[in-house]
Amino acid sequence: MKISIVLAAGEGTRMKSKLPKVLHPVAGKPMLGYIVDSCKDCGIDKTIVIVGYGSEKVKKVFADSEVIFRDQPVGEGIPYGTGFAVKQAINDFEDEDTVIILTGDTPLIQSETLDSLIKERESGNYAALVLTAIQENPFGYGRIIRGENSNIVKIVEEKDANDKEKAVNEVNSGIFAFRGEDLKNALGKLSTDNSQGELYLTDVIKILVEERKKVGAHILRNAQEMLGVNSKVQLAICEGEIRQNINNHHMLNGVTILDPRTTIIESEVEIGSDTVIYPGAILQGRTVIGKDCTIYGTTRVVDSTIGDHVILDNVLVEESSVGDGSKLGPYAHLRPKSQIGKNTKIGNFVEVKNSVFGDGSKAGHLAYIGDADIGKDVNIGCGTIFVNYNGAEKFRTSVGDRAFIGSNSNLVAPLVVEEDGYIAAGSTITRKVEKGQLSIERSRQKNLNGWVEKKGLKKK
Ligand code: UD1
Ligand code: CA
Repeated sequence: MKISIVLAAGEGTRMKSKLPKVLHPVAGKPMLGYIVDSCKDCGIDKTIVIVGYGSEKVKKVFADSEVIFRDQPVGEGIPYGTGFAVKQAINDFEDEDTVIILTGDTPLIQSETLDSLIKERESGNYAALVLTAIQENPFGYGRIIRGENSNIVKIVEEKDANDKEKAVNEVNSGIFAFRGEDLKNALGKLSTDNSQGELYLTDVIKILVEERKKVGAHILRNAQEMLGVNSKVQLAICEGEIRQNINNHHMLNGVTILDPRTTIIESEVEIGSDTVIYPGAILQGRTVIGKDCTIYGTTRVVDSTIGDHVILDNVLVEESSVGDGSKLGPYAHLRPKSQIGKNTKIGNFVEVKNSVFGDGSKAGHLAYIGDADIGKDVNIGCGTIFVNYNGAEKFRTSVGDRAFIGSNSNLVAPLVVEEDGYIAAGSTITRKVEKGQLSIERSRQKNLNGWVEKKGLKKK
């Protein structure tokens, strides 16, 4: 069996955050999620996640995944460190298993890398294989110390390293492959005899070397893959890397991204070919965008489905859907549960919430459409308000096909305007309007002759 153990119990003090480190999102997905997914993709049979600080939060976020959690006890007088963390999973693997150990804070690691590490461990029959990389700036990482014959002899942590060791730029990625039996044996011999008083997993290497076990290092070709996130600065570097990968993936699929550096697309978003994305767009969550769309400016789309040939111009779309050929914006807002049909227009400063908006219908400017069922080819005039709330309850309004709602109308729900109904501008409508009726609700206009002059208001 192939088992992976992911270490995620650390406090992450250097992040200076109340959120457990491994839950910090990178391109919209928690860091730990990338590692769990990579393990799954390379055919690992069982993934154990060691949790400690903020464990309830971590377990909640990953409640639907197949990972197994093991709690690392934390508190005064209890040991700490990556070695102690691995010990919590000691009963989860057998002697013959290949055990991969990963840290929860290296989200760039690729499943192909893990796969080749497992294969090399098994074909070379290593007791331990360390994934290492050459870093121009090795600061903060454990250094790989090699002996005269260039074999690895130990790993020295930054805080325990002397000047000569600090100058080494081959570093420990924090990822290892072990034979189960050898890992178990060496974990039992760890001590806290180091500058941090911790049980270091890295000391397992020295122990196995001293026991003349076969220990090797596998050098990463792309050193970026092992980038560890210890601070918000490193978080931003990882975010940049992953965002670039995501944007490249979409561009290779035919999406035009004018400025990838200023376009934020989260990891699960799908986009059709020939869609053009202008700088500043933010596409989040489980969003699907069709083909041949144009997305301008500060548009943000969250958990929504957008059809083909849609134009989104500086709009906010949340948990909604938009049909083919529709044009939204500038400055429109679809709040959750809005279903916008095909070939519609939702123009300047129009807000829609929990409504159905039929094919070919238009709301060109300045309207609030809440809790409404609007048919096809309906025209909603400028300034229309769907009055849906009496302070305690919400009510729905239904507007039939081809109805015309004149400007500055109030439609007081619950209300039905049947098909071909016509509302005169400036009306406040509270009663049902039947098919083909004109409804007008405003006082008759009076024009008073000579009034201005009589009042002495005429300009000289
Ligand atoms: C660790 C390695 C270092 C390596 C680096 C790579 C050790 C002693 N050092 O250092 O050689 O170059 O990773 O990124 O292993 N954790 C626990 N329980 C603990 C302590 C930590 O689960 O008691 C978890 C953390 O949540 C984290 C991971 O282990 O996900 C690594 O811990 P961290 O403190 O970040 O170790 P580094 O100092 O980065
Ligand atoms: Ca780290």
